Amino acid sequence: MNQYTYYKTVYEKELLKINKRLKSIFKNKSPKSLYEPSDYIAKSGGKKLRPFLVLVSAKAVGAKFSDAYNAAIAVELLHNFTLVHDDIMDNAEKRRGRATVHSKYDLSTAILTGDNLIAYSYKMLVKDCKTDCRPVVNTFTKGIIEVCEGQSLDELYESETFVSLKDYKKMIYKKTAALAGMSCSVGAQIGGGSPEEVKALFNYGKYLGMAFQIKDDLLDVFADESKFGKIVGGDLLEGKKTYLLLKAIRKAEGEDHKKLLNVIKNKGIKKTQINYYKNLYVKLNVAKDAQVEIRNYTGKALKSLNIIKNEEAKNILVWLAKSMGERNS
Ligand code: IPE
Ligand code: IPE
Ligand code: MG
Ligand code: MG
Ligand code: MG
Repeated sequence: MNQYTYYKTVYEKELLKINKRLKSIFKNKSPKSLYEPSDYIAKSGGKKLRPFLVLVSAKAVGAKFSDAYNAAIAVELLHNFTLVHDDIMDNAEKRRGRATVHSKYDLSTAILTGDNLIAYSYKMLVKDCKTDCRPVVNTFTKGIIEVCEGQSLDELYESETFVSLKDYKKMIYKKTAALAGMSCSVGAQIGGGSPEEVKALFNYGKYLGMAFQIKDDLLDVFADESKFGKIVGGDLLEGKKTYLLLKAIRKAEGEDHKKLLNVIKNKGIKKTQINYYKNLYVKLNVAKDAQVEIRNYTGKALKSLNIIKNEEAKNILVWLAKSMGERNS
């Protein structure tokens, strides 16, 4: 078995364990109107990136995966809350290859399911703080506030004509990277890491999260829908200020430029126009620009790991950063 196959095996083993834990949390609870949709999202799959970050960060500072298992489940539940509410805000019909919670049930059910998921995430989190819970709870809470701020900017930018790449990066830092950084920080704190180690792992997660969201923007247009599990072109339908759109607007001239501005002016496009814009992105080669950014942030993530002493955990984090940049879902 080569090294990379080994790290993949470690990840896949934890993925199974995390999924098993998630399956039992909402099982047979009442009222069904709340717990069935909670169970539906918790059991819907996904990559389990954030809980894995918690576990490996704990290991990176000398602890065991089992020391941070509840915290790992906590960040996944929190992530699921952000997905349920994000899908309402983004009018998304599909997630993880299935109907989104608000499309399968209804809007009120999805809102309340999200609320319940946050409450359960705190319930799980505090199980893993052995002594003073405050630093971990503060980090966790700060992460949630940042996601809300980022999601608010994401919505606000839909109707703004000019959004700079700097604005975009601030927005994705908050909506996505902050939660990845928080996951690492929480794992490292629970594992008893020094302030320097906690900071280094937070930075790793933050840069990984930046690369992750740019890759998500890229996949939104270029993924194979059956593997992606979400509707391809969803960001264009909603008129989202993605990396690709912002970059394309900067590069395009004449008619192409006008067509791209129409995405903003018309607050999104029609389903029948997705292919046209996909071809325009191909013509302007913006996927290449996105890849360069992804590589750049992945490099920064890897550099942040310099001070980490546990070689195995460090290698897993290196493997993870590289494979997240190459993923197709
Ligand atoms: C989706 O996250 C939301 C983003 C921040 C892009 P993931 O791509 O990690 O979703 P799952 O958990 O694997 O389904
Ligand atoms: C993710 O942004 C932000 C969240 C906090 C969930 P997206 O809206 O791009 O995520 P997906 O593509 O729907 O998963
Ligand atoms: Mg979305
Ligand atoms: Mg969104
Ligand atoms: Mg997306």
